[in-house]
Amino acid sequence: MTQHFSQEVLDNIQNPIETARGLPNEAFTSPGFLDLENRTLFRRHWVFAGRKSEIPNFGDIKMVDIADQPLILVHGKDGEVRVFYNVCPHRGAQIVTEDRASARVIACKYHAWTFELNGPLRGRAHFDGPGKHAKGKAEDPNCPSLFPVRCETWHDAIFVNLDGNAGPLAEHLDPLIEQAEGFDLSQFEYARTVKGTFDSNWKLTVENWSDVYHVFAVHPTLNKMMDEQARTGMLTDRNLIYCRWGYDESTLENEALPIAQNLTGAAKTSSFMGHLFPALCVSYHPAMLLFWDYKPLAHDRTQVKLHIYVAGGAASDPDFADVLDQRVQYYLDLNGEDDEVCRLMQVGRRADGYDGGRFAPYWDKGTLHLAKLVVDSVS
Ligand code: FES
Ligand SMILES: [Fe+2]
Repeated sequence: MTQHFSQEVLDNIQNPIETARGLPNEAFTSPGFLDLENRTLFRRHWVFAGRKSEIPNFGDIKMVDIADQPLILVHGKDGEVRVFYNVCPHRGAQIVTEDRASARVIACKYHAWTFELNGPLRGRAHFDGPGKHAKGKAEDPNCPSLFPVRCETWHDAIFVNLDGNAGPLAEHLDPLIEQAEGFDLSQFEYARTVKGTFDSNWKLTVENWSDVYHVFAVHPTLNKMMDEQARTGMLTDRNLIYCRWGYDESTLENEALPIAQNLTGAAKTSSFMGHLFPALCVSYHPAMLLFWDYKPLAHDRTQVKLHIYVAGGAASDPDFADVLDQRVQYYLDLNGEDDEVCRLMQVGRRADGYDGGRFAPYWDKGTLHLAKLVVDSVS
């Protein structure tokens, strides 16, 4: 194992937050550092790859890129979700070139080899000469299957672990699931996705998501909704950076979406927001379940897809369509407000005089924790 950062950088990150420094500029401004993260961090951990509700029927196939790797999410005939590298085992052509609905097989455009939805080779046209077709034989080592990628699912979320060596997904999700006590995710159905891009490194973009400090300065609408006195910085638990904020009763009485049934404890009177390393943010709200999927597009550009889930049948009830449209607009506006400050951080990190910064101890524990998780994951 080699250490990427200098000992001075590592020591400064490990200092108490009052005197600690964050990651050096290179971690945000260097395309090479994103390459390193793609080879290490994003391959070693469980990464959110998509929604089961994006491939609802047998034979549905969705193309995704994770850590620069082309993948396909496949809904098999047996109902299982599987993930494969999007490459033909013959001569390495990209095998799926557009998302598919109800496909019966996966066929390559180049020499028309076909594969079953669960991976095994089905047939090779003209393999033994003109007109001499060959069927795939499961027991024959020269009949290659599609190359599988380790995947597991939780609620509607599909996760992949590219290097295959992470612990079980349940272990990765453990801190997040602990925070779901009293909150029944199974009541929530997929409703909408809000898409956006930020001109900032993925770490700056996700740090900003969990930065409660800036709400008073950047988000006028959210600022009115959140009780200022109840705001705290983030707490940390293993790979989770999180906080809760409480509601008074009137807030929920004014909620236009159905409140989930049988909420208990903290889930009844508060919202939870958590950043699960590397780049998935999750919120449990009495009327919504939210997944923010952040994905680096380049060292200085990040895509976000916010998947909104709602309870009480509102996802498909036309009476709630306007409310959902308004909710989408609210999050688009919020992204717009964050867009500029994320860009300012990206521009600022080009300044050589910046030394990793100073933290505000009350608010910035999450940001320092993220720096430590990154350091551990690229070593
Ligand atoms: S590369 Fe796919 S069949 Fe030849
Ligand atoms: Fe923000």
